[in-house]
Amino acid sequence: MALQILGIGCSPRSNSNSKAMLEYSLARAAELYGPELDCNMIDLRDYHIEHCHGCGACGKTAVTGEYIDCMIHDEAKDIFEMMIEADGIVVSSPVRMGMVSDHFAKFMMRTRVLRNQDFRLANKPVGVLSVSRRRAGGCEPAIIQAWLPFIRHGCLPVGGGGKASLFGGIGWASNRNHVLTDKDGLEMGVNTVLRVVEIARLLKAGKETLNYQSKMKFCYMQGSRI
Ligand SMILES: Cc1cc2nc3c(=O)[nH]c(=O)nc-3n(C[C@H](O)[C@H](O)[C@H](O)COP(=O)(O)O)c2cc1C
Repeated sequence: MALQILGIGCSPRSNSNSKAMLEYSLARAAELYGPELDCNMIDLRDYHIEHCHGCGACGKTAVTGEYIDCMIHDEAKDIFEMMIEADGIVVSSPVRMGMVSDHFAKFMMRTRVLRNQDFRLANKPVGVLSVSRRRAGGCEPAIIQAWLPFIRHGCLPVGGGGKASLFGGIGWASNRNHVLTDKDGLEMGVNTVLRVVEIARLLKAGKETLNYQSKMKFCYMQGSRI
C-alpha cells in the first residue's frame, strides 16, 4: 500500500500562499516517488470546525478505559480520521501576528480527544511550512508553535533536512500565490515534505518488521494536580 501523506492548509484565505506552497511541495514529492506515495491535501477553511468547549468529557473512562468521543458533532472528526490514517502529516500556515494561524490553533485544540485516547497520532512524522510577508516576519516561531501540540500527541516533528531548511519550509510572500515565485521558499517546502516522507517510510518499515503497536497510554492522573 502506498505511503499516505496528509497536507493540512491553515490559512483563512482562498488561494492562499501557504496552500500554494503546500500543494507545490506535495506535488513535487509525488512526482519524485511516483505510485509509492499518496499525497492528499485539505484546507481547514473548507470544514466546519467549532471551538473546543473545554467540557473535559472526551477521552476515555477512568475505570474501564473505554473511549469517549468529542461531544461536538461537526466536521473536525472527518479530519481526525484522515490524520489517524496518514503515515505522515505536513501543516502549512501563514504567519499572523507573529504566530501560527488561528485556524490551526482552533483545530488543534479539538484534537485533544485523540491524545486522551491513548495517543492515536503517536509516532507520526510532522513537518511544518509557514509563509510570512516580511522577510523575518515570524516563520520560525510559527513553525515551532505548530510543533508543540504535535509533540503532545507523541508525533515526531522534522525539519527540512536540506541545506537551507533548518526547521521546515519558510515562504516569503504577500499577495495570493505570490509564494510561487519564491524559489528558495518552495525548495524548503519540498525538502520538508521529503523529510516527512523519508521518516514515514522508515517508521512504516520498522512497524511492519516489529509488528509494532504503540505503547503510549494516556493517564489523567500523571502530572495533574488533584
Ligand atoms: C492578521 C494578519 C496578521 C499578519 N501578521 C504577519 C506577521 O506577523 N508577520 C508577517 O511577516 N506577515 C504577517 N501577515 C502577512 C501574511 O503572513 C502574508 O500575507 C502571507 O503571505 C499570508 O499567507 P496566506 O496567503 O497563506 O494566508 C499577516 C497577515 C494578516 C492578515
